[in-house]
Amino acid sequence: MASYKERLKARWDELEWLYMELYGEREMLTALKEIMAEAYAARSQALRRLDSRREREPDWFLSGKMLGMTMYTDLFAGDLAGLEGKLRYLSEQGVTYLHLMPLLKMPHPDNDGGYAVEDFGQVDPALGTNEDLARLTAAMRRRGMSLCLDFVLNHTADTHPWALRAKAGQQEYVDRYICFDTPDIPRQMEQTIPDVFPQTAPGSFIWVEEMKKYVCSSFHPYQWDLNYRNPAVFNDMAAAMLRLADLGVEILRIDATPYLWKQMGTTCRNLPQVHTIMRMIRLITETVCPGVLLKGEVVMAPRELAAYFGTREKPECHLLYNSSTMCTQWSALASGDVRQLKHQLDDLHSLPEHCHFVNYLRCHDDIGWGLNEEFGRSIGQDPFLHKKYLYEFYEGSFPGSWARGERYNYDPATGDARTCGTTASLCGIEKGLAENDPAQVDMGIRRDLMMHAAVMCMAGFPMLSSGDEIGQLNGYGYHDDPTRREDSRNLHRTAFDWESAALRKKRGTVQRRLWDGLRQLEKIRAQEPCFGPDAWVSTWDAHNDHVLALVRREGTGTLACLFNFSAAPETAYLDGMEGAYADLITGAEASCASCQLQPYQYMLLRSR
Ligand code: GLC
Repeated sequence: MASYKERLKARWDELEWLYMELYGEREMLTALKEIMAEAYAARSQALRRLDSRREREPDWFLSGKMLGMTMYTDLFAGDLAGLEGKLRYLSEQGVTYLHLMPLLKMPHPDNDGGYAVEDFGQVDPALGTNEDLARLTAAMRRRGMSLCLDFVLNHTADTHPWALRAKAGQQEYVDRYICFDTPDIPRQMEQTIPDVFPQTAPGSFIWVEEMKKYVCSSFHPYQWDLNYRNPAVFNDMAAAMLRLADLGVEILRIDATPYLWKQMGTTCRNLPQVHTIMRMIRLITETVCPGVLLKGEVVMAPRELAAYFGTREKPECHLLYNSSTMCTQWSALASGDVRQLKHQLDDLHSLPEHCHFVNYLRCHDDIGWGLNEEFGRSIGQDPFLHKKYLYEFYEGSFPGSWARGERYNYDPATGDARTCGTTASLCGIEKGLAENDPAQVDMGIRRDLMMHAAVMCMAGFPMLSSGDEIGQLNGYGYHDDPTRREDSRNLHRTAFDWESAALRKKRGTVQRRLWDGLRQLEKIRAQEPCFGPDAWVSTWDAHNDHVLALVRREGTGTLACLFNFSAAPETAYLDGMEGAYADLITGAEASCASCQLQPYQYMLLRSR
């Protein structure tokens, strides 16, 4: 393995070039070099050993054994120490990658789920201490589990020491934010910046009375966007990021990546300077902590998304969220039509080989209906009406809907809205249980498992949302909490139900069917060579618009994965897949030439 010096030498020219191009300040570049050296010096022997292992096996995260889960520490286990005591449960589920929602010091109660950070160097006292975090990561490493934490690069809380000093009039800190004395420039910029939260926090600038200035705040008024034109911001944030890595965080989720650079007359998203910043971050982490992965939170159309992988020679993120596929999959489930989903996957499969995705159905955020509108039109969809249909369907108001969910950030100006809810509730389990109707519950479970099976078979690695493994339902209690009721994402941000989890061991329960169904899929993924890092993955024509077909190949083995998105029995016909196959789910013999699938059935057919 290369030494720190060698790694630095190999990357310095490029880092210097990019830094000087963006900032042109050599002294600040020298300061950055010192920050990097200090972070390396502080890196523990255990983490340096991990770095060497990862350098030898750079594809470790592409193994079929990878299973992600995302959760809030407090909702799952109270605090970090409590979580350490629950790791056994996660191992039982086969989790190898845990994304803990933001846990650094935050204001209470308004903190946007922890995305308003008050101190990038300290765990929130309500959740524990830095020592608890380091102990947790060490305990996780012993179990083969990697910790993913957010790095909220774009903004700080308005109670962060920098913001407090800015409010007190210290120019050095005012310069760390994007501030204007008069409303003209902010108003002009807002003409071209789309709102992130049109309903709950409209606009991109707020008036701050203490400062007598307009301050850029793309998200909530208490989250102030950092000024990345200022190299001091970049350097200090790089230092904070490296400190997290030194606490044992193995994957950094770069929050709100596309928003980092602001420029008048643009949408202030995906600007070229964002890529310069991401590339610099990659060079810095590769030098100091090469075991660390960067996962970009880029909720953008595939066209803009792919740029965040960079090129093979000059990569940016190792991983990106597959948000387009996620929403397209939910669209396919509502309509029973997989054409758009197949098209979406074909788009992703055409990306270069260094592009890897985290596949998921639900996370802590809403489902934004960012479908490929052009393709939608080509199959006769009116994009506006289809979106309306989807958010009405998933809030349960569309006639015939099985789903229970809620609308998120409805924008009366555009008629746009997003959707909240847990997987189980959106799949119909909640409605079936409420109506005491076993047949509906059964259908809900089938949908839920089929949706997860598709996620598990796509290229990339799957990430569950904590509670999905036991079919956790929506929680409506937030409606009565004045500090939470404005944000319907709280519908699926509820305390983990340990009593319900205990039912995973009881025959005949919803929990058991979901748990066993997921475990079966996870074991197949872990054991089958067709889920290996080098597997070839493609969609296949099933000659049936209700059935998604994916084919995976590794060596001489072929795995055909079929998913019936419809409530009716369907037949799929796969060309060019002669020979005998066995269904890994049921153990039955099967032929790919003509496959009968029951409503929402999935099959994983392996060549014999
Ligand atoms: C990301 C998070 C979201 C948060 C936003 C602002 O999009 O996923 O929950 O509101 O960043 O930090």
